[in-house]
Parts: sequence; structure tokens; C-alpha cells
Amino acid sequence: MAGRRVLLIVGGGIAAYKALALTRLLRKAGVAVRPILTAAGAQFVTPLSLSALAEDKVYSELFSLTDEAEMGHIELSRSADLVVVAPATADLMAKAAHGLAGDLASTTLLATDKPVLMAPAMNVRMWDHPATQRNLATLKGDGVHVVGPDEGAMACGEFGYGRMAEPEAIFEAIMGLLEGPAAGPLAGRPLSGRHVLVTAGPTAEALDPVRLLTNRSSGRQGYAIAGALAKLGARVTLVSGPVSLPTPAGVDRVDVESARDMLAATQAALPADAAVCVAAVADWRPDEAFGLKLKKGKDGPPTLTLVENPDILATLAASGPARPTLVVGFAAETNDVEAHARAKLARKGCDWIIANDVTEPGVMGGEENAVLLITREGIERWDRAHKDQVAADLAARIAKALT
Ligand code: C5P
Repeated sequence: MAGRRVLLIVGGGIAAYKALALTRLLRKAGVAVRPILTAAGAQFVTPLSLSALAEDKVYSELFSLTDEAEMGHIELSRSADLVVVAPATADLMAKAAHGLAGDLASTTLLATDKPVLMAPAMNVRMWDHPATQRNLATLKGDGVHVVGPDEGAMACGEFGYGRMAEPEAIFEAIMGLLEGPAAGPLAGRPLSGRHVLVTAGPTAEALDPVRLLTNRSSGRQGYAIAGALAKLGARVTLVSGPVSLPTPAGVDRVDVESARDMLAATQAALPADAAVCVAAVADWRPDEAFGLKLKKGKDGPPTLTLVENPDILATLAASGPARPTLVVGFAAETNDVEAHARAKLARKGCDWIIANDVTEPGVMGGEENAVLLITREGIERWDRAHKDQVAADLAARIAKALT
């Protein structure tokens, strides 16, 4: 990474202290860091700390005669391979989305011709506000890369999405963005310019406002696959049922609960070059979700009538103009794995099935997986491996199939 340069804009949020750790990680990797500290950012970290860790001068003011004499602000905005905003506050995101240029940070974002990566950090209500979500969509539409935010406890005492991604995750996202162009436009990132849709986790089907039908899927394998695809340069939309996992770096996550919501979210995310359906979708849901909590009574327990859920994999695999080029399904089997998986390939109309025997100890909900890859051409038996390794191997196979 020696010789690579990052322009790091530090906005005003409690997460600004993590920008210091990020600066250290980058410097250790040999990446040059040139910091821009907003006035609000300077309320949280001092220019001196940032400058000492970056081993460079800190830029703060738009109309600084000294700075302009040394390097004009337009030149500054282009003086790096990548512009990183961490923390990207609601204010900085709003300014960038609307093209405002009233200070050095926003002017830099408007003037730069380099890729931009933002690590949002704000209170959960500010993050959830339609204005921020609108700005986020605008920024993504403009090609801005986004890492995080994570879900968790916040400095303000609330809980939810809005915590800035950890420095390691931002570092990884930066490495991903820097690696590609350094070694030629596509080297190491064969899925650049491709969009891959991944479903993961369980679904939760409401019975009444407090009860659910769900399953034990942890979402780990699907999340690992989404992360591995992003590392290869793909734009990844991860449609996720309720799980407690952090969003992998560089992945766009859409949270859903029911199978019907999951189907709608996958269809809204099309077109995609590939779809990987890893979610453990409930086959059935209660035929009606009661608006009020069901009560015990003299009539005894209620009778549940189940109706079938839509099959997301089969729907995506059905031919039509929006069908992804490659549609991959998963099959968790307890017996006759190969025969059942072959039958599933035909029944669902997908291109590949990744089959695993969930009776193997430690596979369901665990760290490891032992899989078979079944294509129309044949079968491959993969060695038992960590789910991250299975994910990396599968992402590499997908890249090969698409290029
Ligand atoms: O039919 P079965 O549930 O065994 O198929 C598993 C595969 O189908 C997985 O890839 C899963 O994500 C997908 N699936 C789906 N929608 C359903 C049921 C399964 O996408 N309703």
C-alpha cells in the first residue's frame, strides 16, 4: 500500500476518536493520510493528535491564506487516491448530497474527482430520519461508497443503527477500494461493476403483535458470502432477516422480517448479475396475523392454519428479462443430500445448489460448513471448512462464472 494516499475528512461526532485509530491503521499499512478536520470535528479530537498520527498537517479552513498559498483547496481535494469521511455526520452527508460547499470539507467533497467512502455516524433517529435516508440514497446514486453504520449502544444512551463502523472495518473497506486501481482496473476485484443480491438469515412470520414463527438460522454463512463478494469488488445488496450480525464492509443491507417482505426487497433490488439465496425462508406462515395479542381463554388453544410462503429462489430463477445471469440456492438436508439437492436444482430452476448436511455436528448455527456444489454439469465435494473460507471459495466461483 506504500504510495497510496487517503484524504481523511473527520466530521464532528463522538465517533471522531475512532478516526485516530483508523489513521494509525492506515499509516501502519504504509498509506499516506492527509487530514481535514471540520470545526465540529475539532470539538472532539484535537488537530495536534490528528496531525501527529497522520504525520501530516491538518487542514481546517476554506479561506486560509497560508494553505491556499501552499496548496489550493481544489488541488487538495484531488491530492489523494481516495477521500474518506469518518465520521460522516448527518450534516456532512446532507451537504454532500445537496452539493453545498460552505466549508473546506464540503467543498472538497464537491470538487474531488476521486472515489469517496463515507462511514456514517449519528444518533439512531437521525439515521432513520427520511431526510438522512434520502441523502444516503442520493449519495449512493452518485457513486459514493458507504461502510456501516453498525447497530449497538450509542453515546447518547439510545440503541440502534448509527454507530460508526469500527476502524478495522473502515480500514478493510479502504483497502478494498485502494487495491483495485493499484494493480490495474480489475485485478483482485473481478466483480467490479457487478451487482449481486444475497438473502440471509431466518424469516420471522408474525402470529400476533408479540409472537413469531421463525427458525434457528444465524445468518453467518450468508453474511460471509456477502462480505466475500464485496471484497471481490461486487456491489452487494444483502436482504437480511432478523439476525444479530454486523453488516460486512462494503455491503448494502436491507432488513426484513417476513418472507413476503424478503421477496419484495429482492425484487426491488433487481437488476442483479447474480443472486445467492442463503436465507432460511419459512415455508409457511400463519394464514392471518392477528392485530391484537391472542389471549388464553375457555375455548382452549387456538388452531393455527398455515399457508405457503412465496419461494424467493424459484421466483428469482424464473426466466424473464430480470432473471440474474446466475442464480444460486442452498439446500440444508438431513439425508440423501445429493439426490435431494439435484431434485431441488431442477424444481427451483436455479443454476447451482450448494448443499450441506445439517446433521453434521456444528454446521447449523456453527462456524464450519461442509458443502457440495451441484451444477447442471456435475457435482463437487468441498472439504469441511470455516464458513468464511466456504464464502471466499464460492465468491471466487461466482466471479469465474460471471467473467
Ligand atoms: O425448499 P428449500 O427451503 O429446501 O430450499 C432452500 C433454498 O431455497 C435456499 O436457497 C433458500 O434460500 C431458498 N428458499 C427461498 N424461498 C423459500 C424457501 C426457500 O428462497 N420460500
